[in-house]
Amino acid sequence: MIFDTHAHYDDEAFDEDREALLASMKDAGIGCIVNVGANLETTRNSLDLAHRYDFVYAAVGVHPSDSAELNEDNIELLREWSEDGRCVAIGEIGLDYHWPEPSRDIQKKWFRRQLDLAREQRLPVIIHSREAAEDTINIMKEAHAEEIGGVVHCFSYSAEIAKICLNMGFYIGIGGVVTFKNGRKMREVVEVTPMDRILLETDCPYLAPEPYRGKRNNSTYIPYVVEEIARIKGISKEEVERITLENAKNMYGI
Ligand code: NI
Repeated sequence: MIFDTHAHYDDEAFDEDREALLASMKDAGIGCIVNVGANLETTRNSLDLAHRYDFVYAAVGVHPSDSAELNEDNIELLREWSEDGRCVAIGEIGLDYHWPEPSRDIQKKWFRRQLDLAREQRLPVIIHSREAAEDTINIMKEAHAEEIGGVVHCFSYSAEIAKICLNMGFYIGIGGVVTFKNGRKMREVVEVTPMDRILLETDCPYLAPEPYRGKRNNSTYIPYVVEEIARIKGISKEEVERITLENAKNMYGI
């Protein structure tokens, strides 16, 4: 059984066939999915999905790219939502310097604030970090993220940065990129990450693995990621599924 620790099934890319696709998950060996909020609206939609499907859980949070919509009232709203029994994490939160907006100061402020929220609510965090390794690590250290716990999802940095996150007790989220021809850096990250710290994820509809690269992603493609991790680690695909399922359950407290 596979646990997809990071998906966005509320995305409009699934409007045509969301129900049918989710109904096919169990037969495809996908036992658990965490649908991750990226702003207030998608957080609400994630909770809604988690209430309609017994194998779907929700993460509550605002992505750095949408962090300009945050204020203290909205943090209170996130707090209320995070008390929902189907919420298993605060996320996705973090820093994304790929785009100029919102400003780095705004992103940092709400990353810190949502880390505090996770600590207060005793929930792990799902961290999104892109082109912002140094600031992300600094804020994690400052906030004592090792006491909060969580995952750096869709990890995109070097093995060196991975080791720093691992030393803080974090999990590393591995998705389709590890199968890409130019995914060498990602394969090095898998090499240095102990099996008991790897989580499987899609980030669907984005980042489909080979041979579906560029197409709409979904959880039933995770076996291609499993196969690549099994090859790098020299263990069976069953082992990869079993250990990553255990890791996800541990982290999310399911
Ligand atoms: Ni995501």
